Amino acid sequence: MTDEDKNEMIVTPWEVKGKVDYARLIREFGTQPLTQELRQRLAKYMGGVHIQLRRELFFSHRDLDTVLDLYEKGIKFVLYTGRGPSGPVHIGHLVPWIFTKHLQEAFDTRLYFQMTDDEKFVVDDEAVLSETTGLAYENALDLIALGFEPKNTFIIYDVEDIDLLYDIALEVAKRITYSTARSTFGFQDSTNLGWIFYPAVQAVPCFIHKKLTGENVPALIPAAIDQDPYWRITRDIAAKMGYYKPAQIHNRFVPGLGVGGKMSASEPETAIFTTDSSELVKKKIWKAFTGGKGTIAEQKKLGADPDVCTVFQYFLYLFEEDDKKLEERNRRCKAGEVMCGDCKKELAEKVNKFLGEHQKKRLKAKDRIDEFHIKR
Ligand code: TRP
Repeated sequence: MTDEDKNEMIVTPWEVKGKVDYARLIREFGTQPLTQELRQRLAKYMGGVHIQLRRELFFSHRDLDTVLDLYEKGIKFVLYTGRGPSGPVHIGHLVPWIFTKHLQEAFDTRLYFQMTDDEKFVVDDEAVLSETTGLAYENALDLIALGFEPKNTFIIYDVEDIDLLYDIALEVAKRITYSTARSTFGFQDSTNLGWIFYPAVQAVPCFIHKKLTGENVPALIPAAIDQDPYWRITRDIAAKMGYYKPAQIHNRFVPGLGVGGKMSASEPETAIFTTDSSELVKKKIWKAFTGGKGTIAEQKKLGADPDVCTVFQYFLYLFEEDDKKLEERNRRCKAGEVMCGDCKKELAEKVNKFLGEHQKKRLKAKDRIDEFHIKR
């Protein structure tokens, strides 16, 4: 395998590999870039350009403008996002959920949140259903810990709640041919039937608000861009079923601590899990991949590279709200005025402060989990 092959970009809902070229994804998926103008439009409702918009974590969309036009005419929208419970939640997962909460507060909307224990079971040969289901409830604690309120937050657990979803899933499934599904998702002869049906289930929360309330409004989906194929097929059939097309706002993948910003539950040392102890957090951050040089002398002379540094990315997307301070950190890094150890220490402190609070709230969430269940 050549280096180029190793770096080849693959982005599907089930696999992200290589160096991700986001401009290319916008072109190939046919989404729209999130323009300055749209950012400003959101800012009007969100009390300023929120950190994850300003730093362009969210960078692409479909029909966000349409949804805002409708909102301004008095037609509200609902939010929909979700999580495939394949392991414990790490900090990278929380970032788009935090943004979703800001959207929810700004627009005073419902959130439907789907836990896809079915999906994670069918797509992984090794997965055990009772385990993905168990993880769905564990993962829900992290969502609740972020401060969502049960009055407008509805968690769907696919396996437990399939009776609520099944009629809409059938209506969706009947309108999508195998040929469309195969070309959208790359299904093979060896793909199992559960996997092939699953996209119909992920489409359901786009439409479920009408079944529950009688109100027909569009859904806006904050999601990582790898989920786009699901919404492409859903958008194609929405009008035929009498619904609005679901709109989306897409985020980049939040980098992990490994080389190339990898964070993966299957490589636990590259991800900070929400239940990690403060000692473990320090250790993981200490080993994080940075843009530093081999020796201190060299780094003082030549400076380091914040653009490839995973530690810097955490300040960028979550832990340094102040633009001037971020800019200063960037400058000092490039000038060789700050060493990687200094940044790591500061980040570990910030992460541990955040996680200390999060872990307390996560414990409390155990008593409240039923209040958030869509079937309550
Ligand atoms: N398929 C997603 C995953 O594996 C889970 C999911 C379901 C989702 N519905 C969603 C993610 C809506 C974002 C938005 O993580």
